[in-house]
Amino acid sequence: MPDRPLLVTSALPYANGPLHLGHLAGAYLPADLYVRQQRLAGRDVVWVCGSDEHGAAIAIRARQEETSPQAIVDRYHAELKEAFAGFGIAFDVYGRTTSQTHRETSQSLFRSIEAAGGFVRQTSTQLYDPEAGLFLADRFVVGTCPVCGYDKAYGDQCENCGSTLAPDDLIEPSSTLSGARPERRETTHWFLPLGEMQPQLAEWIGTKEWKPNVLGQVRSWLDGGLSDRAMTRDLDWGVPVPPGVDGETDGKVLYVWFDAPIGYVSMTKEWAEAEGDAERWRRYWQVHPDGTEPELVHFIGKDNIVFHCLVFPATLMAANRAADAAGNAAQPDRPFVLPSNVPANEFLNLEGRKLSTSRGWAVWADEALAAFDADPLRYALAVGLPETKDADFTWADFQNRVNSELADVVGNFCNRALTFAERFCDNAVPELVGPSDADRQMLAALAAAPAEIGRAYQDVRLRDAVAQTVQIARLGNQYLQETEPWKTRKTDEQAMRNTIAVALQVCAGLGILLEPVVPGVAGRLREMLNLEGVRSSERAGTDGLGWDDAGRPLLEPGHALGTPGILVEKVEDEAVEAQRELLRTRAANASPESPTTTASGAEAAEPETPYAPLADEIVFDQFAPLDMRVGRIVAAEPHPNADKLLRFDVDLGFETRQVLSGVREHLAPEDLLGQRVVVVANLKPRTIRGLESNGMILFAEDRDGRLLLVTTDGEPGAIVK
Ligand code: MF3
Ligand code: ZN
Repeated sequence: MPDRPLLVTSALPYANGPLHLGHLAGAYLPADLYVRQQRLAGRDVVWVCGSDEHGAAIAIRARQEETSPQAIVDRYHAELKEAFAGFGIAFDVYGRTTSQTHRETSQSLFRSIEAAGGFVRQTSTQLYDPEAGLFLADRFVVGTCPVCGYDKAYGDQCENCGSTLAPDDLIEPSSTLSGARPERRETTHWFLPLGEMQPQLAEWIGTKEWKPNVLGQVRSWLDGGLSDRAMTRDLDWGVPVPPGVDGETDGKVLYVWFDAPIGYVSMTKEWAEAEGDAERWRRYWQVHPDGTEPELVHFIGKDNIVFHCLVFPATLMAANRAADAAGNAAQPDRPFVLPSNVPANEFLNLEGRKLSTSRGWAVWADEALAAFDADPLRYALAVGLPETKDADFTWADFQNRVNSELADVVGNFCNRALTFAERFCDNAVPELVGPSDADRQMLAALAAAPAEIGRAYQDVRLRDAVAQTVQIARLGNQYLQETEPWKTRKTDEQAMRNTIAVALQVCAGLGILLEPVVPGVAGRLREMLNLEGVRSSERAGTDGLGWDDAGRPLLEPGHALGTPGILVEKVEDEAVEAQRELLRTRAANASPESPTTTASGAEAAEPETPYAPLADEIVFDQFAPLDMRVGRIVAAEPHPNADKLLRFDVDLGFETRQVLSGVREHLAPEDLLGQRVVVVANLKPRTIRGLESNGMILFAEDRDGRLLLVTTDGEPGAIVK
């Protein structure tokens, strides 16, 4: 069966700020790796992205800066587009939600859902700014959080304690536009009846085998019960509610989270038009007349999960029902497909701290690209993607990864093979005659690579895919070490020639396998090998050598090689020190008063949390009675009757204890297993929800309330003092 057509999307970044490494690691680089590999494998794939140019945040910013929203989005759209290109992020189309096609597409979906009764209209009292003359949606109103007392909480959320709020909940609300005290006025909006749609959504989600972090969030939304969500706003920036729908539409626009995901559809249409086949978008969005369902994969950051897994699917379901209800037998519209996978990523931290654009704690794409090639940055980000949990980017890791893996393993292996061929084999590929076991094993490892690594890509286990790719070069180095061509050159020339023949075939394979991760390096490698005819990873197509070909010997005996050279430059100490310095100065000069709302997957602007004050002084005699020991966690699992607790068995050397800790929200049992931790071992046992806890494991609590393990190299039973 031929592959299903594949549509890949990356979260549309808000066009209100520049791109930084956190964004890249969230929704763009992972998709780029995935899509490039799929294209090499000959998959019929289209990848769409573009700027999200609507929303209250952009409207507010324009008012604050006394400019127009259009001016802001024009500027950042251009910047984003350029930064993506600089990183080799190879979308098939990069559109914008202010385009005419998008306006028509989102209005037409809205209209048909409305006509089929897919929305409910609700009138409510909302805050209205009498000075600015408009309703204060979401972030236009600030006030004191009723939960924690933080005095800069927004109308939709308190960023200090994380509580979800309604503008009405705020104590002492004031308008961010005029500072005026808002009044209450009635307004009517169109709501997507998510409450009513919940069973249908739950049933659909129930069939999905998505990443646990994604399903976990979705389930908790479902468990909490979905509420209807307004899909319109009182705002003067956005796609206008289409005229002609029943009701007062004046001054109302579509909610940005209604129109933006529809941008995926509009941008696919724009792509199709540019391809000269305007109707071709349907191939990737709608069930085909023959029943084939295209696949839809959304790459996003974890803060976008609810919208992509529940709200947008609900929109599509409503649109499908509307098409059904229209019952136009002459020209039935085909149903939209729902996402088949949503591989959301966690967040990327920077040098051990949360990214924060307002506090200058970010690495901007253009700055990074001014100092380094895209490839080393792509590589370091790819091996450390926040796939299953938050990850940390440090410049030290970057340097280390690039130098010790990309340069010392990949670059070095290819360089050894190529320079040896140049010096001792007339710069041509020798013929393999009577291969040894080692030769055959090396070729077998290469032959198995495309399927194995391809599976990792297919399953969106990208860190794995990259690690396995580098592993091929590592095997290559071991193979050279073992076969010692510099010795056999004098003792058994054919053995030397065989070694070089095999090593060059591995290089050729790497010339394809490396392409999704480090396309520049892969291209240079192919040039040095004089290997032509590899299909592009930037456009779908089936001409030329593809992914599967990487496993077979691609170079004919006698094939003339190109000029060997340095494949991967090392990263110098000074270069990374300069980046660290840049970060430090910027953080020191930042004014946290001007937060930027940023795009998906990277950041929630957070207020500075103070360090907890030191506790009262104690004397040694108060400390001495504590008996703390090193323990090894030998079992870790959820407490059967308590949501917040984990149950541990801890080996203290002289005995194994059951200990309970309230860390379930913070740490995954599988990450704790085998860890050596510090246990307060003489604490009186107590029973919590039916289980006895015999001791206490120590954890570190960050300023943002996150708990982290305190580990040690000591042996179980060792006294901590
Ligand atoms: N602009 C949103 C964000 O940065 C993401 C929009 S994704 C889409 O969080 F689905 F709405 F397009
Ligand atoms: Zn709060």
